[in-house]
Amino acid sequence: MMKANKIIKLFKGTVIHSLEIGKVEILPNSLIGIDEEGVIQHMKSNYEDLKQLEKDVSSICINNGIDEKESVIDMGNKFLIPGFIDTHAHAPQYHNAGTGTDLPLLKWLEKYTFPVESKFKDLVFAENVYSKVVDRMLRHGTTTCCYYATIHLEASELLADIVSKRGQRAFIGKVCMDRHSPDHYIESTEQSINNTREFVDRILSKGNELVQPIVTPRFAPSCTNELMEALGKLSQEKQTLIQSHLSENKDEIEWVKSLYPGIESYTHVYKHFNLLNERTIMAHCVHLSEEEIKLISTQQTAISHCPISNFTLSSGNLDVRKVLEANIKLGLGSDISGGYHPSILQVIRDSIKCSNSHYFNNDNHTPLTFEEAFYLATVGGSKVVNLDHRIGNFMIGKDFDAQIIDPFVSNSPFDCFDGETLKDIFQKFIYLGDDRNLSSLYIKGNKIKF
Ligand code: GUN
Ligand code: FE
Repeated sequence: MMKANKIIKLFKGTVIHSLEIGKVEILPNSLIGIDEEGVIQHMKSNYEDLKQLEKDVSSICINNGIDEKESVIDMGNKFLIPGFIDTHAHAPQYHNAGTGTDLPLLKWLEKYTFPVESKFKDLVFAENVYSKVVDRMLRHGTTTCCYYATIHLEASELLADIVSKRGQRAFIGKVCMDRHSPDHYIESTEQSINNTREFVDRILSKGNELVQPIVTPRFAPSCTNELMEALGKLSQEKQTLIQSHLSENKDEIEWVKSLYPGIESYTHVYKHFNLLNERTIMAHCVHLSEEEIKLISTQQTAISHCPISNFTLSSGNLDVRKVLEANIKLGLGSDISGGYHPSILQVIRDSIKCSNSHYFNNDNHTPLTFEEAFYLATVGGSKVVNLDHRIGNFMIGKDFDAQIIDPFVSNSPFDCFDGETLKDIFQKFIYLGDDRNLSSLYIKGNKIKF
């Protein structure tokens, strides 16, 4: 049984969230109460009698010994939605976001990505970029993010410290790569294993439950068998999540085939090294065979869908319907800077376009709706990081990770008109909104300062 703690803050107004895929609940006249740990202790909605709502506010305040003027946030015509969950982002690559969009994956890595990542051995350089990317993600309403750092132990720890200080919830990975990488950006097998263990221990010892280490083999081509095996064992021992890339680009897939002629598929390579399990997040997964989809499903591995990146690097389009029908955990990822935009709203839009593009050639493909894409950005993401008992929506007992959205802010990028429903306004925000509409952001009940 969950301990019911004292309520210290109440949010009054419209709440919008998803409990199941495709269904968005739009709940006017709602009341959410959170305790001092940022856990939701009260959630009641659709009060028809507004006097009853006010009575409940007063009695909750009296029963919990809090002052109504100080502790109740009346959202007026703003609305509350869950924080967005970015299940795949490269923090150092934020430096390049919006540039280097002219090459496919493998050439793009060589020409733009490895050179910028190698600069993160310089902690002054790292601090500047990492402070900016974390701030930018927060301003776009991303309350939880799965970050790749670089191969550098100290700079990866610095990213974790910056994230901690800003109060974001995150999984942070020191990237591992001990082969097929440029001389200026490679580590020995021993270094990679030892530094990953040290990184995991350091992050765990900081004791911030919001910031967790994640074991991060960059992708199969950049890790030796010995490294892959050690990372599989380390993740098992420490029970960390694992993140990597899978089946993003056709040249990459051919490369993996040539490296592992004896293994059935790219997906089986990760399975072979105990890196494909219920704690794994695989980004992209665009060109999977039916067999590989089945394997991912039986392994209870999650997929991070990164449509902006897949369009920009001309990688291909994930068939989200196939993934959802196979009962695979699915979330959205910005993939900064394969993807050029840090906002999950933009990823939502591209996930819908990506699905529509499947429909061009396949009448049987039912395009993703905006309600489904919103679910993927919130509840879907929470399942990807195995935190659906803690985040993703506003069920009692979950942590309060929330955005207060103001559709009527003076510089709003969209306009609303008389007669529009709350659903119309919410849909306009999903398609046209941006960081100007983010009025405030909470992570585990803490208000994030901008
Ligand atoms: N595959 C291996 N490394 C990367 C990376 O940094 N970005 C993307 N999009 N794919 C990768
Ligand atoms: Fe990536």
